[in-house]
Amino acid sequence: MRKKAIFITGASGEVGHALIKKLAEDNNNLLLTLDLHPLPADIRHLTTHIEGNLLDNILLARMISQYEIDAMYHLAALLSTSSEFAPDMAHQVNVEGTLNLLKLAAEQSQWRNKPIQFIFPSSIAIYGMPEMEQSKGLYQKVREWEWNQPRTMYGCNKLYCEMLGSYFSKHYRQLAAEKPVAVDFRSVRFPGLISAFTLPTGGTSDYGPEMLHAAAQGKPYASFAREDARIPFMAMPDAATALIQLAHAPAERLSRSVYNVTSFSLSAGQIRDRVVAAFPDAAITFQPDMKRQAIIDSWPADLDDSAAYHDWGWRPAYDVDRAFDEYLIPNIKKRYGRG
Ligand code: SER
Repeated sequence: MRKKAIFITGASGEVGHALIKKLAEDNNNLLLTLDLHPLPADIRHLTTHIEGNLLDNILLARMISQYEIDAMYHLAALLSTSSEFAPDMAHQVNVEGTLNLLKLAAEQSQWRNKPIQFIFPSSIAIYGMPEMEQSKGLYQKVREWEWNQPRTMYGCNKLYCEMLGSYFSKHYRQLAAEKPVAVDFRSVRFPGLISAFTLPTGGTSDYGPEMLHAAAQGKPYASFAREDARIPFMAMPDAATALIQLAHAPAERLSRSVYNVTSFSLSAGQIRDRVVAAFPDAAITFQPDMKRQAIIDSWPADLDDSAAYHDWGWRPAYDVDRAFDEYLIPNIKKRYGRG
């Protein structure tokens, strides 16, 4: 008899770390995780972990022979800056990896005669605003269907995978004699994420978390974003909550398959001010990298997440004050032994 499990890819990454902790709070959840890397020590006991590649079909087939997958949280991806340096690999991991799993989910839905849930984190990077003065300043809270013109490989990958996911949930094998059971695909577009416990690698919103973690360690930090660069952010626990809440939402409440979620919008200078208030000896300077800055300039200053509010009751638990005062600063101080 196969064991029922929730499957999480990219489990060793930042979102994986928060999501695994949160899913493991429910003892009924059996978690099965996949990543190229081992899991961080503090979450190892919470899941059965496979070290491997999501493009390895033999590995996936072996997994399916042992586990009945109820839901997939497909987190594995190369982030936006990394993807610019390795676009072919980004396409392989971000697109082919997703397609591989969608096909697996479709096949398993067929076997079970019941849709498998496929939860997919997308990103603010799917937006691309042409010129800062003309668009980013004018259109503050961008809605899901606006400015879907990404300027990064990662953004293109994520946007296409959102579409692939919707296709698998609505039209996959639409000309076959019998329409297959659909995949239950649901996606959230995250803003920049900030965790107290982990650091991102290869993202373009990394200046926020990097600034904070450097200051807490007493290290100087030169931000690659301009002081006035503004994008939306969210505290990491809210990212895990959003994924789980969307997974649990009744299907009939959902008017879309992809939803914006966000919490607060800050400029890099405002993040610096909050960091300095907590760590007065912080040495933060601004040395913009104009190429990475151009990517930030193409991302909206804020997101309209009213569809998520309305359809599935999305509310971030951490607004900007709670995020810094109750989650980030106290946990980071503890982490680096700053009292
Ligand atoms: N944080 C991501 C990045 O910077 C965007 O989703 O790549």
